[in-house]
Amino acid sequence: MKLVSKENVIGEINSEVVACMKCGLCKNRENGVPGDGDICTRIMFIGEAPGRQEDLSGRPFVGAAGKNLDGLLHSVGLSREKVYITNIVKCRPPGNRDPSKEEIATCTGLYLKRQIQTIRPKFLVMLGRHSAIYILSQAGIKVQGITAIHGRVYKIHPFNVPVMAIPMFHPAAMLYNPKYKTFLERDFDVLKSEIKKLTHPDSHGLDTWIHRSYSRK
Ligand code: URA
Ligand code: SF4
Repeated sequence: MKLVSKENVIGEINSEVVACMKCGLCKNRENGVPGDGDICTRIMFIGEAPGRQEDLSGRPFVGAAGKNLDGLLHSVGLSREKVYITNIVKCRPPGNRDPSKEEIATCTGLYLKRQIQTIRPKFLVMLGRHSAIYILSQAGIKVQGITAIHGRVYKIHPFNVPVMAIPMFHPAAMLYNPKYKTFLERDFDVLKSEIKKLTHPDSHGLDTWIHRSYSRK
């Protein structure tokens, strides 16, 4: 896909999200939060739903959980600018309640599906149980939660896009219990070593691989 058309598709999705009224979550939002980052990246992160700070700013992971995510990204030589970050649902559920099955089905069918098909990441990191359960269910894999499966690498084809999918705990969990910090750091190391298997060892090679210029596959 040419860069121009990729930009157009993502731009269209962004405009649709901010005006969307396709589920009840539109009623209480300040801003829809489509996603943010490099649309030519090979690494995509999918969280759960915008929280208060995200709702106010229109950007994903800018609150306390986002600070944790930034730290984890930096610990493995990544940054927000090098990856794409979005959520399962694009509008904040009131009081940060869990998104419902119906809200997830509606929102992903309209937006996340097209984001994955347009960006075509090689790595898909699911942050938190909702994201993990949803993406794995697209591959017919049923899981109860992420405690037993975090840090595993699944080769699956959600929406016909071949990815290495890695479920992880949600970075907000680190705010409540330090053991999740250890789990997340280990799982980010898994991501790093999987990326390294596919890239040249020096960091220049790494960055060149992560950002897919459109002359290369
Ligand atoms: N938690 C999420 O899952 N997503 C955000 O964007 C912020 C917090
Ligand atoms: Fe539309 Fe998704 Fe927001 Fe619901 S959560 S109103 S489907 S953008």
